[in-house]
Amino acid sequence: MCGIVGCVGLEDSKNYLIGGLKVLEYRGYDSAGIAMIADDEVHVRKAVGMVAELEKMCHDFPRKGSVGIAHTRWATHGGVTQDNAHPHMDAAGNIAVVHNGIVENHNALRTLLEREGIKFKTQTDTEVIAHLVSKFYEDDLAEAVRLALREIRGTFGIAVISKKEPNVLVAARMGSPLVLGVGKDCLLLASDAAPILPYTQQAIYLNNGELLKATPQGYEFFSLDRTSITPKIEELDQQLESIELGQFPHYMLKEIYDQPTSLENTLRGRLKAEAGDVHLGGPGLSLKTIHALNRVIIVGCGTSFHAGLCAKYLFEEFLRIPCEVEYASELRYRNPIVRPKSDLAIFISQSGETADTLAALRELQRKGCRTLGIVNVVNSSIAREVDSGIYTHAGMEIGVASTKAFTAQVAALTLFALYLGRSRDFSSFVLQEMTESLAKIPTLIEDYLVDTTQIEDIAEEVRNARNLLYLGRGYQYPVALEGALKMKEISYIHAEGYPAAEMKHGPIALVDENMPVVAIATRDRTYEKVVSNMQEIKARNGKIIAVTTEGNTDIEKLAWRTIYVPHTIEPIQPLLTSIPLQLLAYYVAVKNGRNVDKPRNLAKSVTVE
Ligand code: M6R
Repeated sequence: MCGIVGCVGLEDSKNYLIGGLKVLEYRGYDSAGIAMIADDEVHVRKAVGMVAELEKMCHDFPRKGSVGIAHTRWATHGGVTQDNAHPHMDAAGNIAVVHNGIVENHNALRTLLEREGIKFKTQTDTEVIAHLVSKFYEDDLAEAVRLALREIRGTFGIAVISKKEPNVLVAARMGSPLVLGVGKDCLLLASDAAPILPYTQQAIYLNNGELLKATPQGYEFFSLDRTSITPKIEELDQQLESIELGQFPHYMLKEIYDQPTSLENTLRGRLKAEAGDVHLGGPGLSLKTIHALNRVIIVGCGTSFHAGLCAKYLFEEFLRIPCEVEYASELRYRNPIVRPKSDLAIFISQSGETADTLAALRELQRKGCRTLGIVNVVNSSIAREVDSGIYTHAGMEIGVASTKAFTAQVAALTLFALYLGRSRDFSSFVLQEMTESLAKIPTLIEDYLVDTTQIEDIAEEVRNARNLLYLGRGYQYPVALEGALKMKEISYIHAEGYPAAEMKHGPIALVDENMPVVAIATRDRTYEKVVSNMQEIKARNGKIIAVTTEGNTDIEKLAWRTIYVPHTIEPIQPLLTSIPLQLLAYYVAVKNGRNVDKPRNLAKSVTVE
């Protein structure tokens, strides 16, 4: 939800700011803006639409500024207009602010400022920050920002510059991430590390409640009560290639093809297939805690929720631990029952910044629950706040539709189940079979991805459908939900995921000769049952696209199209069945001319509730 960049001391500030916004565009892309101080002036440009629109407006924008900030927006307060795009200015036009987050008390502050004679130019919550900074400004921008932020309730990652202090960039964080890249002669601010990578590997992650003052002479960190802080410089371990498209037309396709490697990375050093064992340093659970575990609560949103559902089957069947999977947005406002001595809550998030998941985490921590994170982005808020965790190591995911993050989450959850199981009920036979099967998955996906023309052809045949139904049972039910989510979010075709048998209780009414039904029918315990459900659809002239395991040719008698995936053991088969469904959504969206990596109305990381 919104991306921020800022810089001090760069020869080509415009290049960093515009280039940085392009990298952060996955966080929001309805409008963008830039402000820079050059020749004693604050230069500002704003554009509705993608960063490319802003770039077009910036041909005559100064290349070099003493300081600069820029923003790509996902609208919350105020429509998508040029005025509402950031940066926002104070009344005199001296101070410019970019903001990621929400000022919850903006209405009260606006009324107060209006009474003092301020005329607002936008409908945004952010504009109050610019006016407040101006109100408290005497001769120290950092102090004015600090005082302004004391008035604000809500979340923020902000960057502020002022014409009166042309060499100063001030930033602060409360809830919305910010990282400072420390270059040889420059300081670079961004919402995540990606824009910084081409310039430096040294970075400082801002903590909540921290304020930064950056100048050509260096940086200072303070708390909001003005106590000086010594920050920790970290070495970024991301590689530049992870943000480069290479030969791929879209990040989503690149990330689908990344999966053999990303899964290798999730498993590396953890899975000991030859020994039938698993080593996880992250969870840090004592034997006593593992034995006392009596319930697992898994929390997430969207795709991460679906990964959690996959784990429910595994945890209950093999670990015999009751497992509840909860939408973070629902859990946080219930009054969930927690038994601190025997519950473990697992929070799944690619970004580690999802507002609802973070709030649910805090809610369960408040009740004394032990927490574990399954997170992709290192140093993200959820990763920092959980008691312990497992990084998924999927690498940076830029496409809004989650693909490699999903399979990495499922793999990490499977590793965690094995980690618990080796000290509980797993026999050495189960451990051996699961570890060996898991180890083979990256190669199986790699082989599968060699030729995807069949999926492209099926996409051509279903691209004009108005509705699709995705059916699965058991371990494949969450895959059906995930397949439908992928289809709707990037192709804008209505798609519903359903438990295959439950379909008889309503959705079957939708089935006719125009309705493609994706039925996941892998050779497992529910196979015969799913086949019966397919019969019911065929009897109503539905067009069945069967996703089945190799060799299962019988199914062709029932299916309109059949997609074969390699076979593995039931609990990890979702790692393979999810791949053609990702591809199907991708190709349908491309054929229908959708903006695959930046679908409408969405943003990669949902930092508002
Ligand atoms: O970063 P998170 O995993 O916490 O994000 C959760 C959802 O917003 C995310 O999975 C979303 O559903 C994806 N865009 C789906 O592809």
